[in-house]
Amino acid sequence: MQLAERIINSKDAGLGNLLAAPKQNQVSFAGGLPDPDLFPQRELNAGFNRALASTTAALQYSSAAGYQPLRKQLAARLVADGVPASTESVLITQGAQQALDLIGRLVLDPGARVIVEGPTYPGALAALGTYEPEFCTIPVHDDGMDMAQVAATLARGGVRLIYTVPDFQNPTGTVMSLAKRQQLLALARKYDVLVLEDAPYRALRYRGTNLPTLRQLDQDDHVLHVGSFSKILAPGLRLGWVTGAQHIIDQLVQLKSNSDLESSTLTQRAVSEYLAHNDLDAHIKVLRRNYARKCKTMVTGLQRQLPASVHISDPAGGFFVWLELPAGINSETVLAQVQDRVTFVPSTTLYPDQNVKNGMRLAFTNPDEAAIRRGCRELAAGINKAMRVTCGAATAMA
Ligand SMILES: Cc1ncc(COP(=O)(O)O)c(C=O)c1O
Repeated sequence: MQLAERIINSKDAGLGNLLAAPKQNQVSFAGGLPDPDLFPQRELNAGFNRALASTTAALQYSSAAGYQPLRKQLAARLVADGVPASTESVLITQGAQQALDLIGRLVLDPGARVIVEGPTYPGALAALGTYEPEFCTIPVHDDGMDMAQVAATLARGGVRLIYTVPDFQNPTGTVMSLAKRQQLLALARKYDVLVLEDAPYRALRYRGTNLPTLRQLDQDDHVLHVGSFSKILAPGLRLGWVTGAQHIIDQLVQLKSNSDLESSTLTQRAVSEYLAHNDLDAHIKVLRRNYARKCKTMVTGLQRQLPASVHISDPAGGFFVWLELPAGINSETVLAQVQDRVTFVPSTTLYPDQNVKNGMRLAFTNPDEAAIRRGCRELAAGINKAMRVTCGAATAMA
């Protein structure tokens, strides 16, 4: 049987493995999974019951753009965050992941260039990679992408899309500064390129205050802003959204309709009921408190057990701690040695060219604090051992 060339040429992004449950005795820092103990299960159950009890419409086809009352509720939440949005300009998707896929489908021809942060979210590389673009990787600094390199890449031509996670970037946890947000938008305007602002972690800030979104600063409709219920409610709902210029949203609605007709009517109605009867922001506050504690446990655990030559991020929000090992230490080799006890995502998975080997992404949200401590001990032991072998005894911690 002849398969499409893009399938033959494609690599498995390994997303299935990332989201798998940990094995027995193994602590997983790999997938960006929320803490299941914090799912508002009872409240969501009530939402589903209400949605099913009130009308048979919850079991019927409804609309590709999404359940209108939910779109209205989302528009109100976006406006409260400063993002210009109306019921009509919000498209509901199957998680943020589908929004990434639809946006790729909208703008990418094979060989078109896409600017991505390096490292970046591997699911974005997978979704956009389907459309066979050329990825242009821009390094991420503490205040976001290197704008000089973004400008130089745009000047070479052929760029159709800039993909960025400006708030608590996956995986580095960095936040793009206001100055860089403004520079990025000026460049998008100059070269008339679409910016995909992927913001699933924006509400999960543990200290400080949020900057305006790119979409809020966007004066001339170059930004599509994507969000999700996965990290703030539950990923099993598979509900996300995208908002932007109406004519682009209308095109995306058409593409979604062609692809899967629409998202689950029942789930959308259940979440709409949840939002009508519960305070999602109060729930998010609980998440913030818990995840802030877990983040601190991980960061301090690692700081205590690793030498200063290992760079350990201290993110102000999001799901991930990012480690940079001294050059020459391969995180895949460390993973092979520790993976019966602790897993993480090695940096190779997070770059289109898979060429950076000394980084590690550690998700702190899913394991409990005792497991985080145990995982950090195992991981630090593995890193210190690799450093003794590669760099000599003096550089590792005993
Ligand atoms: C940056 C980013 N974008 C999108 C997604 C996909 O989210 P969803 O579950 O809403 O499809 C994730 C999930 O980890 C993510 O980290």
